[in-house]
Amino acid sequence: MKKKILIVFGTRPEAIKMAPLIREFQKHPNEFETKVCITAQHREMLDQVLSFFEIIPDFDLDLMKPNQNLYNLTSDILINLKSVLEEFTPHYVFVHGDTTTTMATSIAAFYSGAKICHVEAGLRTHNLQSPFPEEMNRCVTGVVADIHFSPTQASKNNLLKEGKDEGSVNVTGNTVIDALLYSVEKVNGNDFIDAEIEFLKKCVEVDKKLILVTGHRRENHGDGFINICKALKQIAEDHKDCQIIYPVHLNPNVQKPVYELLEGINNIQLIAPLSYPSFVWLMEKSYLIITDSGGIQEEAPSLGKPVLVMRDTTERPEAVESGTVVLVGTDTEKIYHEAQKLLNDNEAYHKMSFLHNPYGDGKACRSIVKHIKNIELTPV
Ligand code: UD1
Ligand code: UDP
Repeated sequence: MKKKILIVFGTRPEAIKMAPLIREFQKHPNEFETKVCITAQHREMLDQVLSFFEIIPDFDLDLMKPNQNLYNLTSDILINLKSVLEEFTPHYVFVHGDTTTTMATSIAAFYSGAKICHVEAGLRTHNLQSPFPEEMNRCVTGVVADIHFSPTQASKNNLLKEGKDEGSVNVTGNTVIDALLYSVEKVNGNDFIDAEIEFLKKCVEVDKKLILVTGHRRENHGDGFINICKALKQIAEDHKDCQIIYPVHLNPNVQKPVYELLEGINNIQLIAPLSYPSFVWLMEKSYLIITDSGGIQEEAPSLGKPVLVMRDTTERPEAVESGTVVLVGTDTEKIYHEAQKLLNDNEAYHKMSFLHNPYGDGKACRSIVKHIKNIELTPV
């Protein structure tokens, strides 16, 4: 009997990190019946990823609403997943990370009696308010999950400290590295032509130091984003030898302050969110990355790019400990000071920019699929 696998996700980063896992499961059609369900908590930003990785979902709940709130989103996911779970009756439901889709899907899968597999399990800041609501989301998923796929030993240790059975936690590396390596190879291939990358080639000023910026965290909405924009403006004004490119997240709570405060500054380009290959291309071209993103903190060390993280806490201590990532919070002065140091001081820059891979070697998906293959099927 084939094992029935349902892979559920809803946002851009989940899609990027689940895409190579879907491809890996699909390599074994005799052993697995694999179906993909998207909640579409994100819409355009999710569709960009599906298109690049050539994934056609079997179920599309199409739930995104403009400026959606957590109450409606959570309940919509729970209610809409019921019929998917009843129709497909999966043995295993795979969720990823810490979004509202992750948390609500885990609860729905728990009600259905399926085994819950959590990819990127065990990341913790130990502060339920930061990141909000992600720390709560991953803790809830951790409680109901049957199998935890942790990216690093540190994340496994978090789960063991919470009392998880050692046999239920597997260290695999992060699937984002599988996605990154696949994308770098595809983007650098001779036959890869992409209109967005051609547009970026015209945007990037090769004689300037490129600072790539992204941001979206809920706890930074409001004053946090105002402080971030003030810092970026000051960096741009004081460093005419640098160029800031900022693909702005589609959340209206991000779009509004960013466009109000940064539009029209000569060496700052505000652009729409980029498709994954274009973003990878731009990361490779950048001198420095300033972000509050989780995924970018994991990708940048593999590309040897220093990162200033606009957060006070991180659940990804590995890159901070090794020195490629510095936490700068949303303090205008601190962001400005750390960026200035990296722009002016070659030695400080080279200390932070070296290639290393604390998050995996690109074989995480193979290891996850092998693990599921080796489990004896128990009735649902
Ligand atoms: C969500 C996740 C966050 C993850 C981030 C990745 C939650 C609570 N938050 O945050 O953990 O790090 O995605 O980017 O799960 N929008 C669009 N088009 C899109 C995507 C978003 O217009 O393709 C706009 C919509 O108005 C939407 C709003 O952004 O209502 C917020 O989206 P939502 O998924 O609730 O929050 P994010 O801030 O994107
Ligand atoms: N990313 C992208 N296009 C962009 C910005 C980011 O494809 O314009 C990718 C990035 O490479 C990373 C992921 O999106 O893999 C991070 O997503 P986000 O910052 O939205 O979420 P987080 O990782 O913080 O949950």
